[in-house]
Amino acid sequence: MEKWTGDRLRKAYLDFFASKGHSVIPSASLIPENDPTVLFTTAGMHPLVPYLLGAKHPAGTRLTDVQKCIRTADIDEVGDPSHCTFFEMLGNWSLGDYFKQDAIAYSWEFLTQVLKLDPDKLAVSVFAGDEDCPRDEESAARWEQMGLPRNRIFFLPKENNWWGPAGGVTGPCGPDTEMFIIRKKPCGPDCSPACSCGAYLEIWNDVFMQYNRTPDGRFEPLAQKNVDTGMGLDRTICVLQGVDSVYDTELYRGAIEKVEELSGKKYGESDDVTRAIRIVCDHVRAAVFMLGDEKGVTPSNVDQGYVLRRLIRRAVRFARTLGIDDSVLGDLATIFIDLYAHVYPELEANRDKITGELAQEAARFTRTLQQGLKEFEKLVGWIERSGGEKVINGKTAFRLYDTFGYPLELTIEMAQERGFTVDTEGYHAAFAEHQAKSQAGSEQRFKGGLAESTDVTARLHTATHLLNAALRTLVDPSIEQRGSNITPERLRFDFNLNRKVTPEELKAIEDWVNEAIAADVEITCEEMTVDEAKAQGAVGIFTSKYGDRVKVYTMGRYSKEICGGPHAARTGELGAFHIQKEQASSAGVRRIRATVDGPKE
Ligand code: ALA
Repeated sequence: MEKWTGDRLRKAYLDFFASKGHSVIPSASLIPENDPTVLFTTAGMHPLVPYLLGAKHPAGTRLTDVQKCIRTADIDEVGDPSHCTFFEMLGNWSLGDYFKQDAIAYSWEFLTQVLKLDPDKLAVSVFAGDEDCPRDEESAARWEQMGLPRNRIFFLPKENNWWGPAGGVTGPCGPDTEMFIIRKKPCGPDCSPACSCGAYLEIWNDVFMQYNRTPDGRFEPLAQKNVDTGMGLDRTICVLQGVDSVYDTELYRGAIEKVEELSGKKYGESDDVTRAIRIVCDHVRAAVFMLGDEKGVTPSNVDQGYVLRRLIRRAVRFARTLGIDDSVLGDLATIFIDLYAHVYPELEANRDKITGELAQEAARFTRTLQQGLKEFEKLVGWIERSGGEKVINGKTAFRLYDTFGYPLELTIEMAQERGFTVDTEGYHAAFAEHQAKSQAGSEQRFKGGLAESTDVTARLHTATHLLNAALRTLVDPSIEQRGSNITPERLRFDFNLNRKVTPEELKAIEDWVNEAIAADVEITCEEMTVDEAKAQGAVGIFTSKYGDRVKVYTMGRYSKEICGGPHAARTGELGAFHIQKEQASSAGVRRIRATVDGPKE
């Protein structure tokens, strides 16, 4: 039988939906038009928002396409078997045409008849229902009719089975039904697609877009009931080829072999090497598509350009851990352009720009690193002259990281070349101390504050978590806390961002936080290991050593963060949240001051 490849899957998908009366439309740009809520197109529905809201699409009410997407929210997971920064989403849409019955029947037919996946290896989830939208018995019954037994139909809450709005604020959204491949034995009787054990791999999502989320957080029924679906091309190819990860498909094979050839290291020889190779390849592929897009971006300190810059620099860093230099970026870019140009001709048209910009950005990064190298040489020279012990102490290693962007691995490598060692424990301690300082900063002030202000400051502290989550959701997923200060009157929150937060964004952030407050969710605290916290997606700097166990505070679907507390018991206690001011704090760090009104009496 002919092997499943990206080309074959794209064609099979579009042909199938064309045979069901869908018009095939081209992929839109990765840079969304007129949409301040997101930096990149993150899903196939993105360019279709006006039509989901009721505008007439020139190609009709049934559409299908393959859309280029970028998601940076999962960047820490890139390197695992299934997450990619850039991916292609296969999708089909009904704009007020068919709904649950046909959408599910089409999905089932495509999975079992065209892809010929074993029905016994398929599972689905459907929406469990809540005050906004009823339990989706209709979809469950339809899946049963298709032949899926009840024990492979899981009812899950909003957190898992609700999709959109794409930018997190306003727009079309609705309950969804997700399709999974069972990759291995579920880890226990309570295991479900919501479990992180890896038994279930999501490959397709049918969203029943029947609501519009309004700025005040209500779910208003849309004039038309739509279907929006998304199937991850890389993941599906991985399943069809029966390989362990998306990186083992032909979409990455050439790039991985190139890295192996240049580094002399073998993909699979150790977890670290495998992860580093995957990250380099993933980031270069994403950078190629950003640079080569029809509305292509270039590296900069703002918006899309900043995300691109981070990806390129991260690729350079991981390449270095493999012992290879920046020229690998150009080699890999050429491989990806050759692989994808017949599908995305804009890559061919922008070939020189892509390779040129990659090389320039890598060179800029090298210059910053060289400044750090000067510091390093000064220090090493001084120790050598003074006859001291040949150790780079932890504080210095941390400063090289913090100020000059030197990853610890690089410092260790340079030290080894000079016959030095690095006090890595001291490095981790300095890291933890730095972290603790910004955290304890606020805790100290808690203690130093007026006794009766404890509730007030606890509320402000809770508001800080929500603000952090809103910034990451609405402005940039790479935002992290750089400092926090709380007085009984206000909170002050510092975070990394190389530009001003726009007034529109500030308004959206206020709305988002106020929505979380209006939802009045319970704030729960759980103790767990750093690894568990990470697996659950908690926010925090994981490389630091907080000690064995950490406290994780969860506020419904709004926030999950490692923290020492204390917090309000429910978000509703905060009362209205107001942003007072946004300003620069230091280079690359912004500062927001905000207040909460407290509970209504
Ligand atoms: N828009 C839906 C998703 O991205 C299909 O999963």
